[in-house]
Amino acid sequence: MKILVTGGAGFIGSHTCVELLESGFEVVAIDNFENSSPVSIDRIKQIAEKDLRFYRGDVRDRTLLERIFTEHEIDAVIHFAGLKAVGESCRMPIAYYDNNIGGTLALVETMQKFGCKRIIFSSSATVYGEPKKLPVDESCPTGNVTNPYGATKYFQERILSDLQASDPSWTVVLLRYFNPVGAHPSGLLGEDPKGIPNNLTPYIAKVACGKLKEIHVFGNDYPTPDGTGVRDYIHVVDLARGHVAALRHCRKPGRYVYNLGTGTGYSVLQVIKAFERACGRKLNYVIDPRREGDVATIYADPGKANRELFWRAEHNLDDMCRTLWNYYRNNPNGT
Ligand code: NAD
Ligand code: UD1
Repeated sequence: MKILVTGGAGFIGSHTCVELLESGFEVVAIDNFENSSPVSIDRIKQIAEKDLRFYRGDVRDRTLLERIFTEHEIDAVIHFAGLKAVGESCRMPIAYYDNNIGGTLALVETMQKFGCKRIIFSSSATVYGEPKKLPVDESCPTGNVTNPYGATKYFQERILSDLQASDPSWTVVLLRYFNPVGAHPSGLLGEDPKGIPNNLTPYIAKVACGKLKEIHVFGNDYPTPDGTGVRDYIHVVDLARGHVAALRHCRKPGRYVYNLGTGTGYSVLQVIKAFERACGRKLNYVIDPRREGDVATIYADPGKANRELFWRAEHNLDDMCRTLWNYYRNNPNGT
């Protein structure tokens, strides 16, 4: 099978390309390198020891998409391309709606035109907003989002669901990721956000490297065991394998929704402790006020994905921290 991966040079996309190639799929990838670099494409090939066809460009560019679909018989698309920083989405909402919504529309219109009607979409636990019950399962209400990034994920889910309802020959898979972290065990692929990281684990890694002075813990007065926020961190390799599982098991037309998480929540202080074990030294942190828009606790019920996709997250928090630290040590200036 030939799979088109949009955003294939990015953090999750690059790891997914590796897993696809290693599982025997042919891969065609597109990325505009807005938040990644061409080095990732070379690294994918190096790890998998296989080739992939790469196109540099934008998913909103319909001419380029048509060229790709003309040059390749694509069986399914995994759609990662988009912008993902919550704070930036509040400052630049139009750029987020344009890229995330515009990209998805251009993609599905082109797929429709070429008769390719199978898409796996990168959604997020952010669509659940403040969870009404824990763990969060797929039947929990969505849409009560707190920022433009979250709104784009919710609207993208709606667009794909409406499309599938209007034309039941589509196969639409919505994967709701919890908190993807860690790096490839080879140390060749990982997440290295430009500037000061917004997310917890890249921030901790930069403190461990000495590039940032101390970790800022956003609030220690939440109703959680140690007062800090609790999240369901999932290793990016497990997440990537979830896409391969979805390709294998969501074959019949329909709309499928799965949480991809481990089912276990860890607090900010537990993550810091795990990273200290990984890097072998104490890390400085300070307690800051809560960050606006954060929830106290969210973690997944991954039971549906376990049962229906025959998939389960296999890596633990120590694996996530160890591989992330290994990546940072090998790539002090990123990829
Ligand atoms: P990333 O920024 O590393 O990867 C996205 C890739 O898409 C980048 O390589 C970027 O250059 C590319 N891109 C952006 N706009 C594009 C466009 N218009 N045309 C072509 N390429 C474009 O992010 P990621 O962490 O790998 O996330 C991948 C997807 O998963 C995103 O849709 C994101 O919203 C979603 N997601 C991520 C997380 C997370 O914590 N990382 C959580 C939930 C959902
Ligand atoms: C955030 C986004 C979410 C997105 C996800 C992955 C918000 C409100 N949510 O999730 O939409 O899908 O990233 O990109 O931004 N923390 C600190 N100090 C830091 C950074 C974070 O204490 O420097 C804490 C947070 O308060 C939270 C936990 O660490 O309790 C995880 O934060 P983060 O990595 O930013 O992920 P989320 O907020 O869960």
